[in-house]
Amino acid sequence: MTDSAGNIITIRKVDREDNAWKDRFDVFYSGCGIKRLGRKPHAYFAAYAGEEIAGHSVIYREKGRWIMDGLRVKPELREMGIAKQLTGARIRHAIERGASQIWYSCDDDNLVTICCHVRFGFEKVCPEGQLHKAATARWYRLNVTPKLIRELPRLEK
Ligand SMILES: CC(C)(COP(=O)(O)OP(=O)(O)OC[C@H]1O[C@@H](n2cnc3c(N)ncnc32)[C@H](O)[C@@H]1OP(=O)(O)O)[C@@H](O)C(=O)NCCC(=O)NCCS
Repeated sequence: MTDSAGNIITIRKVDREDNAWKDRFDVFYSGCGIKRLGRKPHAYFAAYAGEEIAGHSVIYREKGRWIMDGLRVKPELREMGIAKQLTGARIRHAIERGASQIWYSCDDDNLVTICCHVRFGFEKVCPEGQLHKAATARWYRLNVTPKLIRELPRLEK
């Protein structure tokens, strides 16, 4: 996969959250309301076009849950498969560390993001006590199964 200038797009885990990365993070998410994670255990995954950030995302642990968040791709590089690869990389990261379920939350009107996740098998989970009001639910859960592990390479392409 390449951008219009011919730069190869690569997906990498962010190994060093140094000041240079923090600056780039803040610029990439400016106006989105996405904040850097503090002490919660987490791993960031970025897509690079050359050395420029083309997409960014995170998976973190909270109260025993693996939660994905912050998925964003630069507008001019969308619909090329970058989000699928970032999501596949995060799912694989969690599976390799023993995850049996992976979660994310999303506004009901964010249809593109929902489509992007549903293809992996995420299912909407209604909040307890509101089982008959699906429109209020915002959480999605992916069960890690042998079938998911088998099909992951195909799902992220
Ligand atoms: C959602 C988003 C991450 C998708 O990124 P992307 O790299 O364009 O997505 P991909 O090309 O990997 O597509 C993944 C899947 O998403 C769905 N999808 C992506 N763009 C779509 C569109 N315009 N319409 C419908 N479905 C779409 C499709 O199901 C697609 O899979 P397919 O191509 O096999 O059918 C991107 O649109 C984005 O960054 N949107 C803004 C998100 C946002 O506001 N984040 C909040 C933090 S700032």
